[in-house]
Amino acid sequence: MTLSLHEDAFSDGQVRSKIWLADMVSQWAAKHFENFEKPYVITWYGSWVGVGPFLLLSKTNIPFSKLVLVEIDEVSLQTSKSILNHWDWRKDRVFYIKEDINRYVPGVSSAPSLFINTICEHLPSDQWLKNIPPGSLVILQATDMPHDEHTNRPKNLADFTERFSDSGLKILESAQLNFDYLNGKTFSRFMILGRT
Ligand SMILES: C[S@@+](CC[C@H](N)C(=O)[O-])C[C@H]1O[C@@H](n2cnc3c(N)ncnc32)[C@H](O)[C@@H]1O
Repeated sequence: MTLSLHEDAFSDGQVRSKIWLADMVSQWAAKHFENFEKPYVITWYGSWVGVGPFLLLSKTNIPFSKLVLVEIDEVSLQTSKSILNHWDWRKDRVFYIKEDINRYVPGVSSAPSLFINTICEHLPSDQWLKNIPPGSLVILQATDMPHDEHTNRPKNLADFTERFSDSGLKILESAQLNFDYLNGKTFSRFMILGRT
């Protein structure tokens, strides 16, 4: 299989922010995850080439019965099949859905649900959040880094939290990671754990 790798997907900021997400899941699990022995249905929105889910599954012991990736770009989705092949050996466990997340309506499940969206700065609408069943855990990330595709960048952590609180999310935790590189580039990444 030919891999199409987007080099930015493996940038220090990308990888570090997903390792941070995995570390915070382990930290928040005891307090907020119903029962960490119960398998979760994990849905990752805008999964790109799969580095985020790869690091979450590699770095945590979160049990899951199903991992669903929803990504609009077919090439990225195909690449994530190679990145995630270790978890893909049972063919009814990892699902790759090519769809705009604002049009994707997840099914209601009796299993605990975790939805992850780390592309919030790209999204003009929060319709995808309204489609998530009530009672689900949600992890969100966004960055304030200026970029042509970052059309909905939060100003700071309070701004990010307020946006989703106004959209009806019950905020359980919030956190910030700062990046300060030797070339003078600085930006922050914000993260929320919430419940719909
Ligand atoms: C370039 S990456 C940026 C990653 C982000 N900063 C992060 O840390 O995860 C954005 C990904 O989201 C996908 N994407 C953007 N808008 C989308 C949408 N409405 N539905 C599904 N995927 C989307 C893009 O195809 C791309 O793979």
